[in-house]
Amino acid sequence: MVKQGAIILAAGKGTRMNSKLPKVLHKINGLPMTAHVIRALAKCHLDQTVMVVGHEGELVQEVYGDQVDYAVQREQLGTGHAIMSAMPVLKDDIDVVMVVCGDTPLLTGNSLLKMLQSFYSSDASCMVLTAKLPNPTGYGRIIRGEEEQVVAIIEEKDASVTEKRINEINTGTYCFKVADLKEALEHLNNENAAGEYYLTDTISYLCKRGKVVAGQLLSDYHEILGVNNRVQMAQAVDILRKRKCEELMLKGVTIVDPNRVYIEQDVEVDIDTIIEPNVQLKGNTKIGRECFIGADTELIDTVIDDFCEIKKSVLWESQVGSHVKIGPFAYLRPGSVIAENAKVGDFVEIKNSQIGEGSKVPHLSYIGDATVGSHVNIGCGTITCNYDGEKKHPTIIRDGAFIGSNSNLVAPVEVGENAFVAAGSTITKEVPANALAVARGRQYIKEDWVKKK
Ligand code: UD1
Ligand code: CA
Repeated sequence: MVKQGAIILAAGKGTRMNSKLPKVLHKINGLPMTAHVIRALAKCHLDQTVMVVGHEGELVQEVYGDQVDYAVQREQLGTGHAIMSAMPVLKDDIDVVMVVCGDTPLLTGNSLLKMLQSFYSSDASCMVLTAKLPNPTGYGRIIRGEEEQVVAIIEEKDASVTEKRINEINTGTYCFKVADLKEALEHLNNENAAGEYYLTDTISYLCKRGKVVAGQLLSDYHEILGVNNRVQMAQAVDILRKRKCEELMLKGVTIVDPNRVYIEQDVEVDIDTIIEPNVQLKGNTKIGRECFIGADTELIDTVIDDFCEIKKSVLWESQVGSHVKIGPFAYLRPGSVIAENAKVGDFVEIKNSQIGEGSKVPHLSYIGDATVGSHVNIGCGTITCNYDGEKKHPTIIRDGAFIGSNSNLVAPVEVGENAFVAAGSTITKEVPANALAVARGRQYIKEDWVKKK
């Protein structure tokens, strides 16, 4: 069986990004740029993927981890040189290798797979993925021979006026028979306008040796948009964002205004959920069916079960059970777990706490490091005083308890099952089950005090 691999070129600094961060680590729709490329390659079921790193290589390796193998290109002497650096890492039994750039996050797995398949059904030594661009400036131009085979790729810098008029360009994506690639690399030189070892020169070499180089035209040229600066980065995000919205809408999610939502790559949303404008769904957020995600909501790594209603709120690393209502203006910080049928209302902050089934925190509260049982009512303005200036302490509120408005629960403290805390209390001691706790100044009346004053 044929063994197939890929080489991802990602050693360049990305000078035009004007950034401290290497280009391939900039995030595009929630994923570092080359993660999109790695995912597209995964569709091709490869036996090995080698990523060529150079600039800030260690940082790049840290981010992509063991998804790929690494080759280090210490000096960036050109794309041909990058492939030479990758060859010692490429396993000996790989017969066919794809080459892709790390900065083309829009290239789809389907396009790569199609190219690989037509490579196998041809007798070519090399296949180049090409595209026809309205404006080909900056790209290598494809020179085709009499039988439509590719005979050379001429870089912009080296192209004549006539060659510059060619609008079919090299996308920088190829399939090679490894044996032929190796031979061609041995004959590369850097005698060109850039003084670089061009991978593209392997094409004319192979042609001269009587090998076939085929060109496969990409149907949607948008896929090859390379990200070289932050303007192109925003364009790429925009395209991925639209693709993501379309995928969700076709699956059965209503997106009221797809031009005004930001939904990252790995977000999942189930059918008949409605997403209003200016919603941001990030990271590993998952939303169940028939939910309503109101305008201006931001969900980060948050899981929402079915039939929930979230209005103008921020939820971060939290979990929400079914039929829960949240907001407007709630803030759930990491570790908040809201059980089914609960309600977290306006101006409520919750951190690292569980709110039990059917419990309500309807307004103006801070609940931190607390375990709240089921069917608890937490009155307006209740605060868990969880921090003593040094340490955080837990609050436990048992099932069925009622916390009167504007209470302070000074942690560590526990309120027992079905207990009742009178409004305005500052609770510092355990409240037993079924008890009433009143912890506030007693009201007294001075008759006619105003008249006598
Ligand atoms: C390259 C092609 C050009 C094609 C274009 C498509 C060559 C000579 N030219 O040009 O025909 O139209 O891509 O986008 O191949 N890299 C390394 N090491 C290096 C140099 C580059 O790893 O020494 C990596 C870069 O990080 C980048 C990729 O290779 O991911 C392409 O390099 P870049 O300098 O952007 O090539 P282009 O000039 O765009
Ligand atoms: Ca480029």
